[in-house]
Amino acid sequence: MNGSREALFAFAQAIIDPRKPDPVVVGPNPFYQIYEGAALLGRATPHYLNSLPHNRYAANLRELPDAVWRRTQLIYTCSPGNPTGAVMSLAEWKALFELSDQYGFVIASDECYSEIYFEEGKPPLGALDAARQLGRDGCERLVVFSSLSKRSNVPGMRSGFVAGDAAILKKYLLYRTYHGCAMSGPVQAASTTAWGDEQHVIENRRLYREKFDVALSILRPACDATLPDAAFYLWLPTPISDTEFARRLYIDKNVSVLPGSYLARHAQGVNPGTNRVRVALVSNVEECAESARRIRDFYLTL
Ligand SMILES: Cc1ncc(COP(=O)(O)O)c(C=O)c1O
Repeated sequence: MNGSREALFAFAQAIIDPRKPDPVVVGPNPFYQIYEGAALLGRATPHYLNSLPHNRYAANLRELPDAVWRRTQLIYTCSPGNPTGAVMSLAEWKALFELSDQYGFVIASDECYSEIYFEEGKPPLGALDAARQLGRDGCERLVVFSSLSKRSNVPGMRSGFVAGDAAILKKYLLYRTYHGCAMSGPVQAASTTAWGDEQHVIENRRLYREKFDVALSILRPACDATLPDAAFYLWLPTPISDTEFARRLYIDKNVSVLPGSYLARHAQGVNPGTNRVRVALVSNVEECAESARRIRDFYLTL
């Protein structure tokens, strides 16, 4: 099928039932923008669960009132998270599954960073595994989205897969026969090869580890840079506004980072992206090291 972006977007359109009054789609905050767009196109109201550092970026499900959960038809989760890298624990999954049982909403678990982690043999817990560990073998109301883009560094291929609740996937497949477009044969063949090979993924992880080691050792004297649970982002605090930080860093040092407030909404009295920037360690080791030096030097001028 296509990449996880298209799949996540289409999923909301397939799941949201417009006949039910005032549908709600819940998602993390900060977040990957597609979740919100998918909710809006599905004529649902988006609601946000904040991911904040004091709670190791774990969502507090009690942040939203019962009245919102009762209207919720779909929730997006992102673990490992973009931009925080935070990984959901078994206890968090348990709490979310219980809420889904109580209110009947579907969980769309975006796991496109599941293969970018730091210790070989210790991958982050995924939703399907959490469901299995909790005795939910049918994965009721749970669908997981994965992608080749990050594990193989090939976002251009638009290759991903979905797995989970068979009844939901059947409906989703029907929806996609109307809406989706097929991948070309050559791209299917190339992506089959990439999915079938683990060696390049192990090497990719090794390179990310090296980039984090280098970047953190350079940045730490100047700012509070921490290793995330997984994924390939640094989520750095900024002593000036995040937009000003990104603008001046680009002008003075020619380094592009994303202002955190662009990735988040004001919810429950805060915007969790304020005074943060997202740094993606996606270039090669040398360029990441050079960028980290420039970011450090910039911090030291503030
Ligand atoms: C959290 C998250 N989900 C999904 C995607 C989309 O990935 P794909 O290339 O599979 O569409 C991205 C891409 O940046 C992402 O950050």
